Amino acid sequence: MRLILTTSRGIEDLASAEVSALLDRLGVLFRVEEKPLGVEGRVLAEVEKAHYTDEKGRMRELSVSTYLNERSRLLHRVIIEIASERFEGINDDEPEKALKRIESFVSSLPVERFVKASESFAVRSFRKGEHKITSVDIAKTVGKVIFERLERFGTPKVNLDHPAVIFRAELIGDVFFLGIDTTGDSSLHKRPWRVYDHPAHLKASIANALIKLAKPDGSFIDPFCGSGTIPIELALRGYTGEIIGLEKFRKHLRGAEMNALSAGVLDRIEFVLGDATRLSEYVSEVDFAVSNLPYGLKIGRKSAIPKLYMGFFNELAKVLQRRGVFITTEKRAIERAIEENGFEIRHHRLIGHGGLMVHTYVIE
Ligand SMILES: C[S@@+](CC[C@H](N)C(=O)[O-])C[C@H]1O[C@@H](n2cnc3c(N)ncnc32)[C@H](O)[C@@H]1O
Repeated sequence: MRLILTTSRGIEDLASAEVSALLDRLGVLFRVEEKPLGVEGRVLAEVEKAHYTDEKGRMRELSVSTYLNERSRLLHRVIIEIASERFEGINDDEPEKALKRIESFVSSLPVERFVKASESFAVRSFRKGEHKITSVDIAKTVGKVIFERLERFGTPKVNLDHPAVIFRAELIGDVFFLGIDTTGDSSLHKRPWRVYDHPAHLKASIANALIKLAKPDGSFIDPFCGSGTIPIELALRGYTGEIIGLEKFRKHLRGAEMNALSAGVLDRIEFVLGDATRLSEYVSEVDFAVSNLPYGLKIGRKSAIPKLYMGFFNELAKVLQRRGVFITTEKRAIERAIEENGFEIRHHRLIGHGGLMVHTYVIE
């Protein structure tokens, strides 16, 4: 079986490592490939069938897709691949031609293997890049072809709101993927614990990527914790060290506490109301600091960012013992604040978040 796994752009290596570690535990043969066909934000896992022994001692097949949906912290979706294809030049094709190419490709695929006669289905689509067709065009075309193919075996049932089977058709640049989306309509990064929705919250998958980059094993702080995504995800990993979340605004701090309560980890995190530019007043030393810094403030207040970063890193230098990981769009302000306060950048990468590529730094 081939699985197309989706995640944020820029963390494919971390997602691959997580998937490899999870599949290792199943004791199956597998191969993992980052960015299949060069597509960012995608990981391909080729996995043999996995089994477990039930209470009566019978061998049963274990669903690898269910296992990954339940265990992964970095993936967004787990899609069983039906087919992948590169359509050279589809970006420039007129709509009719582009859709014809997709139509003839999909009509050759044995889609009936993936839907039982009694099951309803829907097609969800995703498109990224420059094309003359829309994602709605793709969903309609693919849906029509699948319907016609299934008609050979009975009367197909379409249910756009609550389908039993979700086909996912993706056109990313000139690469087309078709598969069965085993995750469902809500991406895995939308955690069920989120009862308070911070306007600038970090995706839980990216929070886990930052944690992976920090490799923490001591006391830990998120000095701009907002709704608590990073501390909560860390606690959910079974972290045993001290975890602190600092936030300047009471409303967000309350929200973080509500989220932690809903995640069942409120007793694992110390939430503190306070100003990160006075960090040393709350903690005398801390081993690890991981945060997504405030950015994209309203125009007119944007000038406040360099000052805020300088003030924060100046305080951080007084307390940080080991490593910090920070994500922001404000490249110039953060690099200046890092360097002027005596830190060194050990690693830099860009991570896709909210349609932007955001700068991520590991500092010591
Ligand atoms: C980008 S958001 C963090 C979002 C968070 N990672 C989440 O997932 O909800 C930055 C947060 O920093 C807070 N903040 C701004 N200035 C601060 C300061 N001086 N000290 C502490 N927190 C501050 C903001 O209120 C905001 O909640």
